[in-house]
Amino acid sequence: MRRKILITGGSSGIGLALANRLSARHDVMVTGSRDCSEITEVFSPNLIYVQASQSDPEAAVKIIAEALLKAGWVKLDNVVLNAGTGFAVKNAIDDVERVRQTIDINLTATILLSRTLYPWLAKAEGTLTIVGSVAHKGQTLFPVYAASKGALHGFVRALRSEWRGRVAVQILHPGPTKTDMHAKAGHDAGRLRSVFIRPSSMAAMMEYAMSSKRSPLSLSFLKYYLGGSIMGKRL
Ligand SMILES: NC(=O)c1ccc[n+]([C@@H]2O[C@H](COP(=O)([O-])OP(=O)(O)OC[C@H]3O[C@@H](n4cnc5c(N)ncnc54)[C@H](OP(=O)(O)O)[C@@H]3O)[C@@H](O)[C@H]2O)c1
Repeated sequence: MRRKILITGGSSGIGLALANRLSARHDVMVTGSRDCSEITEVFSPNLIYVQASQSDPEAAVKIIAEALLKAGWVKLDNVVLNAGTGFAVKNAIDDVERVRQTIDINLTATILLSRTLYPWLAKAEGTLTIVGSVAHKGQTLFPVYAASKGALHGFVRALRSEWRGRVAVQILHPGPTKTDMHAKAGHDAGRLRSVFIRPSSMAAMMEYAMSSKRSPLSLSFLKYYLGGSIMGKRL
């Protein structure tokens, strides 16, 4: 069955790898804060791009809802709320603006989008997938990022029970993946980066996890080494 899929944070990294992977068999709309001319990675010509900055969560929700209506999409089989950001801190959290930004992008916009997109998902008896992180349990150098992902974990537990029988809800917690996120956050992973999971492999693990609808799921090194990116049911 050809699906209608929306992926936020689809202008780079894991979100774009997932979108490219799914775009051969499904209709995929992706979002990001940058202009489409600033997309530097391979971008399938089948994808629909919508510029919507989640730094202003309410404006982003409005833009995305309008884009769905404009495209004539009346239902969504899958929504992947993947957009995310973080910043590394050494000694103290003294940058209040970055705290606000991180919470707005990672948490507030994700919550508002979940609520707004419910009618689209309910029509298709679809699946909402929220992208957390293995950092949701707390991570040195990334306290605010970890807090936002921990909050998403709790949000999904509540929503999964509230929407049961109508819309499936899951949270996926990726492990370290070779994207630009760490550099953007001001963190150099050094030689450790060489063992990070490739975005295309993470996208494969995500597709299989989405198809299973299970939650919560860690998409960690262990899962990867056990064949998580080559074994699973496709969407
Ligand atoms: N890489 C890892 O090791 C890792 C591990 C665990 C979890 N994750 C999670 O995986 C998700 C994707 O991260 P990634 O590694 O693929 O990093 P990435 O390449 O930096 O991608 C982040 C995506 O989020 C979007 N985004 C960031 N700020 C935004 C804003 N203000 N408004 C709208 N969109 C915004 C970016 O779009 P623009 O650049 O166009 O704004 C981009 O498409 C994130 O939720 C991240 O927390 C990553």
